[in-house]
Amino acid sequence: MDLLDHSVLPQSAHHMVLLRYLLSLTFILFFLYASVLFGSLLYSLYFRRKGEKSGEKKYKRFSKELIDQVTFNKVIAIAFGVVPLLSAVFGYAQLLHNSGLNVPEFLLLALLLLIIALLFVYTYKYTFHLKEIFQFAEEKNVESQNGKYLTEEISSYYSKTGRLHKQSGFYALLFLTVTVYIFLSTVQLASNTTRWASDNNLFGLIFSFSALMDFVQFIAAAFSITSALVLYLQFKTNNGNEHDDNYKSYVKIFSLRSGLISTLILPLIIVLNVMISPVNLFSFDYFGVVLTALILVLLVATVFYVMIKDSSINYSTFLIVLLVFVFLSLVVKDQLAFDNSTKMQTAILVKEYDSYEKKIQEEMGVSTPISGADIYNGRCIACHNFDKKVVGPPYNSTLPKYEGKRDLLVKFILNPIKVNPDYPAMPNQGLKPKEAEAIADYLLKTYKK
Ligand code: HEC
Repeated sequence: MDLLDHSVLPQSAHHMVLLRYLLSLTFILFFLYASVLFGSLLYSLYFRRKGEKSGEKKYKRFSKELIDQVTFNKVIAIAFGVVPLLSAVFGYAQLLHNSGLNVPEFLLLALLLLIIALLFVYTYKYTFHLKEIFQFAEEKNVESQNGKYLTEEISSYYSKTGRLHKQSGFYALLFLTVTVYIFLSTVQLASNTTRWASDNNLFGLIFSFSALMDFVQFIAAAFSITSALVLYLQFKTNNGNEHDDNYKSYVKIFSLRSGLISTLILPLIIVLNVMISPVNLFSFDYFGVVLTALILVLLVATVFYVMIKDSSINYSTFLIVLLVFVFLSLVVKDQLAFDNSTKMQTAILVKEYDSYEKKIQEEMGVSTPISGADIYNGRCIACHNFDKKVVGPPYNSTLPKYEGKRDLLVKFILNPIKVNPDYPAMPNQGLKPKEAEAIADYLLKTYKK
């Protein structure tokens, strides 16, 4: 997309490091929010159905509390959902500039879907409350037996709201699922260079086994943190109301169990995810973070287990803190993978920045003197050494023949020709004449020392 490409600012290596940190921060916010939203919505829909089937009030109440716990404040949806995703669009547009990868566009699509999903989520929530009001009014009307007309009208609103409620719940989940899936597989694509050539389209993006596995991991983590959040909120509002006991103990037992089960599945998925990752994104740090994540997850599972055994929710604050660290380590793991596998891309951008900097300096008339040493350290050192053979021959053995023939050396550097059959041909280094002169002088002066 042209617009996104135009938004890209020249970036040095330092800027890119900073940008990567910001991106990680953004992801943590978004993951936490998306997980809780997804988990709560799915549980809420499940319990609404269960309530309708069995007619038991506690299910319906739980369903309502679940959706209320993530929608209590609209600012949260903007701050943790929309803004981070928008930042990710621009962050990736910067870091993947000129790579030809459609990552920013895919994320923009995810953002659009997220906004639609949020509209449905809030409709679901409001119709939940509205429905109850209509139901209440209808019951009261029937009781007092007056105003037949009003009763009919209320009934019609009641059933319409009910339909809207059902549909919005379904679409909310559908759009949220697609949002999360596209988001996860885009992040996957960005950090998996082996997929860059083949999967840079919607089809390749969606039909990828590793993306699917990331999604499974997301669901397990979402259930785990949603359960913990329910427990935490129950714990916070624990006012020991006698009337509530039945409801509260049901919610407690359900959340503890679902929390434990999803947390126990999580390590298996994490290990499987690492096993199917290409090796070019591995590093020592990467494995360190994976290990940290696994230990944290097992700790979370232990806490869930202890809480089940003691039948208490006293540790729910601790549980939330631990889970935030689990999310943190999973995000850092993905970002390390991105760092490791995109080293080439970073190098290209750094080179671009160098020429940009030079251009600006020229335009402003501050021409830095060309330094032969800098060119040597920046370009030639990759293949040359003075006394050792690297890719090219050692300078000490090739330079004597250029003694007193500086122009010939400059000519060779500007336009390398095949010389020694024992070596491959030297690739053209694309230097300007002035630069070639500077490096020639530097070499001729230095090699004798
Ligand atoms: C990608 C690897 C690579 C880089 C980078 C590279 N060279 Fe070379 N260079 C070679 C190889 C290979 C040869 C041997 C070519 C041959 O003998 O045909 C060579 C040969 C030379 C020679 C000997 C030519 C001769 O007449 O025998 C000089 C001088 C030289 N390079 C200078 C440079 C300078 C200056 C730079 C940096 C601006 C540079 N090279 C960067 C690979 C490289």
